[in-house]
Amino acid sequence: MATEFEIRGLKSSIEGKEILKGIDLNIKGGEVHAIMGPNGTGKSTLASALMGHPKYEVTDGTVTLNGEDVLEMAVDERARAGLFLAMQYPSEITGVTNADFLRSAINARREEGNEISLIKFIRQMEKKMKELEMNPEFMHRYLNEGFSGGEKKRNEILQMMLLEPKLVILDEIDSGLDIDALRIVAEGVNAMRAEDRGFLIITHYQRLLNYITPDHVHVMMQGRIVKSGGPELAQRLEAEGYDWVKEELGIVDETVGQA
Ligand SMILES: Nc1ncnc2c1ncn2[C@@H]1O[C@H](COP(=O)(O)OP(=O)(O)OP(=O)(O)O)[C@@H](O)[C@H]1O
Ligand SMILES: [Mg+2]
Repeated sequence: MATEFEIRGLKSSIEGKEILKGIDLNIKGGEVHAIMGPNGTGKSTLASALMGHPKYEVTDGTVTLNGEDVLEMAVDERARAGLFLAMQYPSEITGVTNADFLRSAINARREEGNEISLIKFIRQMEKKMKELEMNPEFMHRYLNEGFSGGEKKRNEILQMMLLEPKLVILDEIDSGLDIDALRIVAEGVNAMRAEDRGFLIITHYQRLLNYITPDHVHVMMQGRIVKSGGPELAQRLEAEGYDWVKEELGIVDETVGQA
């Protein structure tokens, strides 16, 4: 079935403070949507709210994946339904190796009795790690513990490749990556582009979008998508910054706090 991810009028608050003020977004399988926007405008909040982070209360709106109500689902159910988030700041988990974590995550999405065999899993993990030019030792390191910034980001992409999600959200996957790593990560993402998989890529820089060509580019300010366009919009933002958008829309302060 063709993937369709729909966000309608999504509002979300943190400790009583409204951050997301009505987000509408429709991502079809095969599409890459990029979200750009100044700091503190609600981009990571959108990612967290979609994944069901307990701190972010959804106060209004709907989110569906292939017609199924995502907001009704618990966090693990969202992952099982095919939602995946590569976080801006991945957490470190001591005591759980990367391989253990990934194997559990894969098996959690499978029926009981149909778990992936250890051999098959190791083979797949080794193959993907090779594609991402990761040192094999990362298989047995504790999850993200002591990983450099760039190593964490590469590891997030490794998770995405193995979990084969339906809707992939990447929050600043390019931050902290060196020039070669950026290309490798982008190639990893491009290899995962498929008719039944949608992407929502949050980034500050056009550079990433040179490698991963988006179908749609959205600008977020004050907890809303205030402007949408094609790849040329990202190019203009890179060249001219955000002032022209603010002027065009009569926005004085773009952060959510002031709206
Ligand atoms: N847990 C929280 N507690 C308090 N305030 C929060 C929390 N999470 C987000 N906010 C506030 O919500 C606003 C939007 O934050 P968010 O992280 O979504 O911004 P962003 O667009 O991702 O910014 P950046 O580009 O810097 O990553 C900010 O003012 C932030 O301080
Ligand atoms: Mg953010």
